[in-house]
Amino acid sequence: MRLGALPRIEFSVFLLMVLLACATSCSPERMKQAEKTNIHPGTARENVTRYIYENELARTPPMGWNSWNAFHGDINEEQIRGIADAMVKSGFRDAGYTYLVLDDGWMADKRDGEGKLVAAPNKFPSGMKALSDYVHSKGLKFGLYQDRGHSTCMKLPGSFEHEQVDMDTFAEWGVDYIKLDSCYAEINGRKSSDDFGLFKECIIKTGRPMILSMANYTDPSWAWGGQDIGHLWRTSFDIQPRMSSVYSCADTSAGDNVIHPAFNGLWQFAGPGHWNDPDMLEVGNLKSDIENKAHFSLWCVLAAPLIAGNDLRDMSEATRNILTAKEPIQVNQDPRGIQGYKVYDDGDHEIYNKPLSDGRTAVLLLNKGALDADITVTWDKIGVKGRQMVRDLWQRKNLGYYSESFTAKNLPQHGHMFLIVGSKGKPLPTPDPVPLEKYSVTRKGKTYLSDLYYVWRSGSAPEYDRTFEGKPIMMNGTLYERGFGCKATSKIMFKLNGYAERFRAVIGLDPSYQGNEAVNFRVRNQDPIGPDSILYDSGKMTKDTPAKVVDIDVRGIDCLILSIEGKQALCNWADAHVVTSP
Ligand code: GLA
Repeated sequence: MRLGALPRIEFSVFLLMVLLACATSCSPERMKQAEKTNIHPGTARENVTRYIYENELARTPPMGWNSWNAFHGDINEEQIRGIADAMVKSGFRDAGYTYLVLDDGWMADKRDGEGKLVAAPNKFPSGMKALSDYVHSKGLKFGLYQDRGHSTCMKLPGSFEHEQVDMDTFAEWGVDYIKLDSCYAEINGRKSSDDFGLFKECIIKTGRPMILSMANYTDPSWAWGGQDIGHLWRTSFDIQPRMSSVYSCADTSAGDNVIHPAFNGLWQFAGPGHWNDPDMLEVGNLKSDIENKAHFSLWCVLAAPLIAGNDLRDMSEATRNILTAKEPIQVNQDPRGIQGYKVYDDGDHEIYNKPLSDGRTAVLLLNKGALDADITVTWDKIGVKGRQMVRDLWQRKNLGYYSESFTAKNLPQHGHMFLIVGSKGKPLPTPDPVPLEKYSVTRKGKTYLSDLYYVWRSGSAPEYDRTFEGKPIMMNGTLYERGFGCKATSKIMFKLNGYAERFRAVIGLDPSYQGNEAVNFRVRNQDPIGPDSILYDSGKMTKDTPAKVVDIDVRGIDCLILSIEGKQALCNWADAHVVTSP
């Protein structure tokens, strides 16, 4: 919603909104950040924008189209106008696809004399404002890609040190949605949270509400509070047009019992105004309709942003029907905003449950395996009892009443059924989120990190309280009951919640490792890459280096990464713990 289009609200309500917004914007933390970034918090217009940004944008997962999956950087004015036309003609706009977003490749390779971004003159000769006006004239909203590093991934000018001027330019052009990427941002000298937070403040200062899509690869924005900054955050690497990639992207958000043992899916971090983003859709770019349909149903049940990525000017009727399917989209856009979570996963067969606002629940039964299969959902898994109406969302038809369970029969590979079970009434409960003390430091004294779930990792999963090979941890003749055994490269993140003062551990290669690889043990603050985040570096260690003691200050740190950089070596973080004074 734009400022000019504020609904006719009572003056007193408006005043309350401004006061509320002011209360948030004037918090000491924000003042500090504002000082650091030269942004002064506070005109009434900015406060209203803040209110809209924080309370009204992306209440349901954003829907739109983005140029990357269909065209990569090969984009131009005529083609994009054609896409806007197609969004209207093919019924996309009316199905809810609102945002037309240009990805990387839209800008000239140099800024103008005043340091402002300009559209690539050969691709967009009429400029971005004209294109934005055209998109708006079709009843759509306009989005642009930018990068928080010095360059975009295609090496075009990034926003680093041009944050405010770029957001002002976007606002002048009528941009409604920003996809903000992270190439080269590891050398910005700022943590991801500060960097994205800075853009949030710059956007608010423009006075134009714009959705902020944080493209941060696998960096765990949910753990460091991305929910308070942007409206969606990437959970995966770039999606590719094949099912193995679609499924692995889905798992970054849905969980696979291994990636995020704490959460088995990030459902508890999604909700109105902030969404997990397993990346843009490849529907229409996959090998068959059965694949396209499975991909779409997964994104719908996961409450993932639905950003189409196919050439809408040239798609089959089957693809159009999948992408505009009314009932699956209704599940995705359900105002309750619960992300569907897995209630069953045996590696080949999965069942997801997404309780809806109307008292019913959406259930996806999916066969990923190579063999045909029957999949049965029993009512106890989805929180209902007795005789329940089952509706097939793709056939748009009621299948009848079923007692205690429903079986989807003979599902081929990628075959699935997408159902709604139950009758309208009081909303069904969701599972309890993982309590904070299970994944975060919450008490004074000593907390062994192996008493906490890790909130993110890359590389092999660590072994808790034993070596990577499952033996007791023994280094320099001392036996350690607590700690982690890891295999390089390994990065594991723990949430200290700003509550710990010192981190201590004894580090070294495990005596069982007889190879010649050298590794660095590093402790990092929040960001898995980038020199600025390193709090401790062991220097190169080999099998012959005696164990070392790490004892460092971690005051104020929210997310700590224990990182072993190198190859293959088996390593230990023995006795790893943090201390908070009583
Ligand atoms: C990164 C992003 C992609 C796309 C490209 C553009 O790889 O993850 O989604 O935006 O950059 O260069």
